[in-house]
Amino acid sequence: MYANTGLQHSGEFTRVDSAKDSNWFIRFMDLANSLPEYGEVRRALAEGLGPLTGKHVLDIGCGTGDDARELAALVGPEGRVTGIDLSEAMVDEARRRSIGSPLPVEFAVGDVRRLGFADESFDRVRVKLVRQHCPDLDDADSEALRVTRKGGRIAIFDYDFDTLAVNHPDRAATRAAVHAFCDNHRHGWNARSLESRFLDLGVAGVSLKPHTVRMSFAFFQASLGEFVNTAVAHGGLDWTREELASWWRPLEEAEKRSRFFASISGFSLSGTR
Ligand SMILES: C[S@@+](CC[C@H](N)C(=O)[O-])C[C@H]1O[C@@H](n2cnc3c(N)ncnc32)[C@H](O)[C@@H]1O
Repeated sequence: MYANTGLQHSGEFTRVDSAKDSNWFIRFMDLANSLPEYGEVRRALAEGLGPLTGKHVLDIGCGTGDDARELAALVGPEGRVTGIDLSEAMVDEARRRSIGSPLPVEFAVGDVRRLGFADESFDRVRVKLVRQHCPDLDDADSEALRVTRKGGRIAIFDYDFDTLAVNHPDRAATRAAVHAFCDNHRHGWNARSLESRFLDLGVAGVSLKPHTVRMSFAFFQASLGEFVNTAVAHGGLDWTREELASWWRPLEEAEKRSRFFASISGFSLSGTR
């Protein structure tokens, strides 16, 4: 790991507002959320939350608010969705995208580690792709459960970054890149412990589903690719610029021949508080 210098790659989602270009993170989420498997993840999370009509839902780390708006259409006029995010830039974008929308959705800046809501404020709580970035998982999980009413539902999705598989002839370099990328997330392995963690926290009816996302070349470039480029430039990976260029070459050639393959797996969990 290396010191923050306003870096822009997908391991830096706790520092969106101090990045050189906060919009990079917005574009990254739009790219990710446009992949077909993300639709499956959103559906699994919505199903895991149980009946939504008339419910008050909290989306923690809501990003651009697209998912919150999708949920707002499901809760109907009697329900409400609140999205909170650590980043002001994300909340501004979420509000901008909601201008003129009749959906019952609102956004606020907030930190999962200290949510500004009373105990049991929400019927449903959802946390997608946030815990992997969060410095303290104990605080994040206990806050998410604290604001869920007893008998309410919680749904979570995170990646396991060491499952990133990419078809590349240089196994050693690719392993080094994937491991460094994983370890650059505060909790790159958290998804593999989701089930045991939430069982230990007393969540009932825990259900865990695996999801594998096939990465488009554009998404791969923006995720592992952007990390590797940044890490080589800032000393996070001990590669020369020539080694970096040689690592990219077979990937670019594969993409040109429509032979590029990469995937990453994550897990969605749901249960009742
Ligand atoms: C990878 S994005 C996911 C956004 C959204 N959930 C989605 O799936 O489209 C992670 C989001 O978590 C936010 N975030 C990071 N740390 C947070 C914290 N401690 N509390 C609340 N949000 C946080 C980031 O600002 C970012 O918008």
